[in-house]
Amino acid sequence: MTQTYDIAVVGATGAVGEVMLAMLAERKFPVRRLYALASERSAGTTVRSGDREITVLDLATFDFSQAQIGLFSAGGDISAAYAPKAAAAGCIVIDNTAHFRYEDDIPLVVPEVNPQDIARYKARGIIANPNCSTIQMVVALKPIHDAVGIERINVCTYQSVSGTGKDAIEELQAQSRAVLAGTAISSKVYPKPIAFNVLPHIDVFLENGYTKEEMKMVWETNKIMGDPSIRVNPTTARVPVLYGHSEALHIETREKLSAAAARRLLEKAPGIVVLDDRQPGGYPTAVTESAGRDPVFVGRIREDISHPRGLDMWVVSDNLRKGAALNSIQIAEHLVASYL
Ligand code: A2P
Repeated sequence: MTQTYDIAVVGATGAVGEVMLAMLAERKFPVRRLYALASERSAGTTVRSGDREITVLDLATFDFSQAQIGLFSAGGDISAAYAPKAAAAGCIVIDNTAHFRYEDDIPLVVPEVNPQDIARYKARGIIANPNCSTIQMVVALKPIHDAVGIERINVCTYQSVSGTGKDAIEELQAQSRAVLAGTAISSKVYPKPIAFNVLPHIDVFLENGYTKEEMKMVWETNKIMGDPSIRVNPTTARVPVLYGHSEALHIETREKLSAAAARRLLEKAPGIVVLDDRQPGGYPTAVTESAGRDPVFVGRIREDISHPRGLDMWVVSDNLRKGAALNSIQIAEHLVASYL
């Protein structure tokens, strides 16, 4: 008989938590008991995971010794407070927030890139899930780094509002309706209107002038690839898209790699779908390819005319799936297959 596991989803009523619940069922994860946890506000309401209807419990009073794996996505402060308690109670935490990602004894894992690091979960009982924009970038770059080495990455992101959470999805929808109706708009989640606009700002500003979202892409790429020599220069922008992040990547490799050779490497790499026809519509977009689907889509692969060892590409993925819920569940799948 297949072994089954008791799973707690923390932040079960949120944008990522809902996808985690759906994907546990979709991927037939061997779940025995499933606990949906959120704030006191949602306790007693119900959520769905495939055919199961589950009553939401208050995180504050939950006994984590009842679960073997906890999928956390309720914000950094919640993880800071509850993940160590869960781990101490024997529940292995897969944390989707940034809170533990940069600690040396916490593995930061993308299963297509560094699955071997999962073994290090024993130190603290916590495994960190990387930032959504980092995950899709390193999935696309790992085969190229393994083949010829990457010296430097310039990346601009075009990130959807679902990465901010449900409030942001509602803000974009409400503002879009207001703009089209010609009525006044108000902004609460973002500092400027997001409807029909682009904001060059995600997360807080840091002393060096970059935002924290940008520095996450630097720190996390070095940690996941296990190579601190890769230089990363990101600009992260929020765009009026509901689901799916897009990224323009400009990389400089150690050895020259042709666009054709890069395309061949990417076509056989795990988790990637190449869509690269040099004609109108022959490229992936958030709305038409990635939303609601699992792969990291890559297109617009070409040699950089301004650099002898430069390559450009366009990378798109669903930030709630590969960028969050799917990556966490893939980590859990490795955990149960190899370690529990
Ligand atoms: P709740 O719905 O009860 O507020 P999103 O990222 O879409 O904004 O969702 C955030 C998730 O984190 C929700 O499930 C939310 O639950 C949960 N959450 C927020 N604050 C707390 C808290 N203090 N305790 C437990 N869960 C929380």
